[in-house]
Amino acid sequence: MRRKRASFRANRTTDAAKHMKYSPLLIILHWVTLLLILFMVFTGLAFRFEWGDAGAIRGHQTIGQLLIVVLALRILAKLRQRTPYQNPHPFWERIAARTTHGALYLCMIAFVVTGYIAASGLDRPVLVWPAGKAFARSDTGEMILEWHYALKWVLLALVTLHVLGALKHLFWDKDDTFSHMTLRSRKDETQCTK
Ligand code: HEM
Ligand code: HEM
Repeated sequence: MRRKRASFRANRTTDAAKHMKYSPLLIILHWVTLLLILFMVFTGLAFRFEWGDAGAIRGHQTIGQLLIVVLALRILAKLRQRTPYQNPHPFWERIAARTTHGALYLCMIAFVVTGYIAASGLDRPVLVWPAGKAFARSDTGEMILEWHYALKWVLLALVTLHVLGALKHLFWDKDDTFSHMTLRSRKDETQCTK
């Protein structure tokens, strides 16, 4: 009986270990997204507060379109992979993490959609397929531009929560949550695919 229980526990641990890591593609895309977003925030603010010349807004649009491709790839890759096994965490933490992750995805999508429309209203947009200029300059277009401005506060709040959560796991709980998002391999971790 005792042996049976021990083997049950061992199987459960192996099952848990199977679902502990994001795929290398998702990990790379996560960190590439972070770099691109830092660039976007910096060039966006540089344009708005006239820290430099027109290069800032050209760079913002060019890298913004690269970000659209990276985000699309990331969402596709995400649809093919389950979130790493979360049962060791309390229920409230799992809900908080999933809600924040979902909100971060929505915020990034909203950013690129509103930005693309805002850029279509510029005199000389650097876009592959600009949306209609008349629409971008209409009242609705102006409202969308206001959303693009407002989103930076939403992003700031979400990223702050997200990073505080990651740091809590790293330094307070001292568990392996942070390593879900690093390429360093661990013997007891395998990536989880559908
Ligand atoms: C996560 C992605 C993005 C971030 C974080 C971001 C961030 C910003 C920021 C901080 C500003 C300065 C305005 C402000 O004070 O809020 C800005 C302005 C702008 N962004 Fe973005 N942006 C993103 C995506 C895009 C994309 C994909 C495009 C177009 C391809 C774009 C086009 C523009 C334009 C045209 C402006 C200037 C609008 C104006 O003042 O006329 N953005 N962005
Ligand atoms: C220094 C900054 C950042 C750190 C330290 C960090 C850390 C992490 C860690 C450790 C995970 C894995 C969490 C888990 O397994 O439960 C994760 C996941 C995630 N991160 Fe970040 N992150 C950062 C910035 C960002 C930014 C800027 C975004 C997007 C705007 C973002 C979006 C996400 C999303 C959506 C997930 C869930 C993964 C998925 O489902 O695809 N992160 N992050």
